[in-house]
Order: sequence, then C-alpha cells, then structure tokens
Amino acid sequence: MALAVLSIASEAVPLIKTGGLADVAGALPAALAPHGVAMTTLLPGYPAVMAALKRPRVLHSWDSLLGQPARLLTGKLGDNPLIVLDAPAYFDRQGGLYSDPQGRDWGDNWRRFAALGRAAADLAGGLVKGRRFDLVHAHDWQAAMALAYLRFAPVKGSVPVPSVMTIHNMAFQGYYPRETFRELGLPRSAWSITGVEYHGGVGMLKAGMEAASMITTVSPTYAEEIRSAEFGMGLEGLVTSRGDRVRGIVNGIDSAEWNPASDPHIASHFTARSLTRRAANKRALEAEFGLEPGDGPLFIVVSRLTWQKGMDVLVEVLDHLAGIGGRLALLGSGDAGIVAGLQEGAGRHPGKIGLRIGYDEALSHRMQAGGDAILVPSRFEPCGLTQLYGLAYGCVPVVARTGGLADTVIDANLAARSAGVATGIQFNGVNYHALAAAITRANALYYQPDAWQALQRNGMKSDFSWTNSGSAYAALYRELTGKA
Ligand code: ADP
Ligand code: GLC
Repeated sequence: MALAVLSIASEAVPLIKTGGLADVAGALPAALAPHGVAMTTLLPGYPAVMAALKRPRVLHSWDSLLGQPARLLTGKLGDNPLIVLDAPAYFDRQGGLYSDPQGRDWGDNWRRFAALGRAAADLAGGLVKGRRFDLVHAHDWQAAMALAYLRFAPVKGSVPVPSVMTIHNMAFQGYYPRETFRELGLPRSAWSITGVEYHGGVGMLKAGMEAASMITTVSPTYAEEIRSAEFGMGLEGLVTSRGDRVRGIVNGIDSAEWNPASDPHIASHFTARSLTRRAANKRALEAEFGLEPGDGPLFIVVSRLTWQKGMDVLVEVLDHLAGIGGRLALLGSGDAGIVAGLQEGAGRHPGKIGLRIGYDEALSHRMQAGGDAILVPSRFEPCGLTQLYGLAYGCVPVVARTGGLADTVIDANLAARSAGVATGIQFNGVNYHALAAAITRANALYYQPDAWQALQRNGMKSDFSWTNSGSAYAALYRELTGKA
C-alpha cells in the first residue's frame, strides 16, 4: 500500500508560481511516486488555479471556515491529485498571491492562510470520506497552521498523524498581532511559547515548527546556518532546541522541464558533448537584450530583485563588470530602488548591460542556454534553483558561499580543478570587493577555454534531478510513520 501524504503549499507549478517554492511543491508528487508515496497537494483556489479545474467534484463544504464559506474541490496538479480550497472571499482576488496590486501584503493574510491550515487539518483528520492520510507535509508559514490545528484542535475522534514542516525561507515567518489569536478557533492552551505565541503575537511558522514531528529545510548548509542568529532570524533558539529533529534535504530540479537537449524554449539544443552548439543561443540572447557582440563572458541574472539576493551589491559592480569586458543580461522584478540602480547602470553601459524587468519563464530558459555564467550573490539562500539550472545548461554558476549555493556548486580552486570536479566559482561575503573579485576570476577562467569547458561539462554531468532528494523524503516519511 502506498503511503498517503497530504502536501500543503501556497503555490505549485504548473498552476501558480512566484518563486522556487512552487517549483519544489510542484515537483514533489512525481519525485515521490516511484518510492511508493501517493502525494495529494492542497492549494488555495486563486483565480489561476480555479480556471485550470476541469469538472471538479465537491469533496466538502463549510458554511463558515474562519468566517467565510468555503469548499474543497478535486483537481489535478500535472498528473497528480490536487485538492483546491475554493474560498472566493479569501482567494478570488486580482493582484499578487500575498499582496495587493500595489504590492502591500493583504491585510487578512493571517486569516487566509489560517483558513488553509484549518481546511488541511480537517482533511487530514478524515472529514472527507474515503480520504485518509498517513502524514502531513506543510511548506512555509502559509501552510504551517495546519500543524497547529492538528495539534491543538484536531477533528474529534481522529487519529493523530506525523508531520513534516519544511522551511523554504526563514525570512518569511507569518507573524501577526495578538488580537488575531481569538479569531483562529484555537483553544486557550495553544497560546503558549511552545504553541503559537511568539513575542506576544501569533507566529505561524513558529507554531508549525513547534508542532512538527520533523523540521526540514532545503539544504544541509542552511539547516546548520539557521541555528545562528544571523540566519535563524529570531527562531534560532527553537531550531537549536529541536536538535536532530531539523534536517536539510537539498532540492532537485525537474529534468524534463530543464533539459538543454530537448528544451522547447531554446533555439539550439546541446549536450555536454556538443557545447559548441550553445554559441547560437548566445548570439540570440545578445540580440534579444540589445547587447553588442564581444569576446568577453556574457553574465546572466534571473532573480527576485531583493536584498536577500544581493541585488544591491550587483548594482555596485556593474561598472566593474562592464569595465573588464563583461556583458550582462538580467531578468527580474522586485524592489523599486534596485530597479532604478540597474537602469542607471544600463544607461551608463549601453550595449553591455541589458535588462528585462518582469517575469518571463521562457526567457529564463533562453538565458540559461545562452549565457556563459550566472551570478547568484545571495546574502542567504536556503537552496536556490537558478544555479542548478545553470549547472544543467553549461551556464557556469558564480555564487556566494551560503546555504544551498555552498552545497551545490564546487569552487574552481586548484584542488578541485586538478581532481576534475569543479563546477563554478564561490566567493565569501556579499560585498563589492568579493563580488567584483569573483567576476574577475570568472573572466580570467573564461579566457582559458579548456578550463572553462571543464567547468561546463562537470556541471552538466552532475545529477540534480529529484532522484536522490525524492528518496530522502520518502525515507523520512517512512521513518516517521513506521510504515514500510
Ligand atoms: P526564490 O524562490 O528565493 O526566489 P529560487 O532560486 O529557489 O529563489 O527560485 C526562483 C525561481 O523563480 C526559479 O525557477 C527562477 O528561474 C524563477 N525566476 C525568478 N525570477 C524570475 C523572472 N523574473 N522570470 C522568470 N523566472 C524567474
Ligand atoms: C525559497 C528560497 C530558495 C529555495 C526555494 C525552494 O524561495 O529562497 O532558496 O530554493 O524556496 O525551496
């Protein structure tokens, strides 16, 4: 009998995505199926999710789910089972998933995602006939309240199941004022520092971490880092107190979606053995970004334009990058101040720095296929996916030594190069000097074609498919459920 797991996430490809969480939540069901895990995903019924439903069945209706009517509907996430929380008052909105069209967080986010958690706990508690789950897996603060409801307010008579709380980003914790507590429908006993209370308010991620049988995060290095104040962001004490109940499992990438030998978004397909075919993609990319052809490396960036991602430091190094003969094609969206800085830099270096401010999935594929190196100067990075796509596409990652970046890129130091295992460049500390020096190193290596191609080939040969991570999650589920 397959192990039945309920996965709760606030976004998942191919239906709805704002970042790497969606890639991971969307890929997990298929990654786990070969390991005898039947995963059902629960998603909020945003307009894009509702529009994708084909003749859904109603599994359950609430007159009032934390104050608003709601239903559970059946659907599909790729080929895998999906359940959608159809609650128009919470999710049928124009704007972002978490913020209004002006970019301000929705004022009732606490209620919207508590409702998601309540629905998940009801579902896991057997509210829907014929649906039973052996384990509940919650992703990030938006899903975390599911575990608090299962712990403090389970469906009457239901059998408790083990749970996993995965932290994709400690920077987002879902922290709300004390007044929201009485609206959550939790018993008074939940208001404690080992429950949902956090610095006098409601801490949703914290509540999930307290309740979970196991906490995971998306790389081993980040699992270590969040034990410190710098990365734990207030929750380091809790992480440390949970000891060996905190583990790191690195993300995989969907190798059907990200394969340069068959990618429908790119003009010239290639493999590690036919790297010369990348040249056509590079020329196409230069043309697309209005860049002058040149001998030097073409750097790319595909990123949220935020402090986490070190994009303010990228703004500072633009003159250096262009000054040594490099060019840059950047795709991203985010902070207005960073966008303005990038635009000024591009204005100073026409033909050398090209920008696309926005979100464009197909273009992100063409960039990985045509760029020489991808810059990822993150201040912290729980896992990071764009460096993995870079590895798969022969676009050499130049990354800050932190979190998943440290775990997935092997620096081209002398030892690694002579052992033939180097895949990219790492640098310590996110500041002007460290990033500029890393760009200079990449530039120098680029002019040694044999060394550069070795980096590309090693990266393309490394296995970041879901095979390993899928079996790690499956083993964890088995450990927690005690089921074979
Ligand atoms: P995070 O989730 O912290 O933003 P990740 O590296 O885990 O970082 O995942 C980001 C995902 O979003 C990747 O799949 C990346 O290709 C994609 N992405 C980010 N910005 C853009 C953009 N502007 N256009 C297209 N894809 C983007
Ligand atoms: C978060 C992190 C990123 C990670 C992604 C998927 O968005 O910022 O590092 O890759 O989640 O786990």
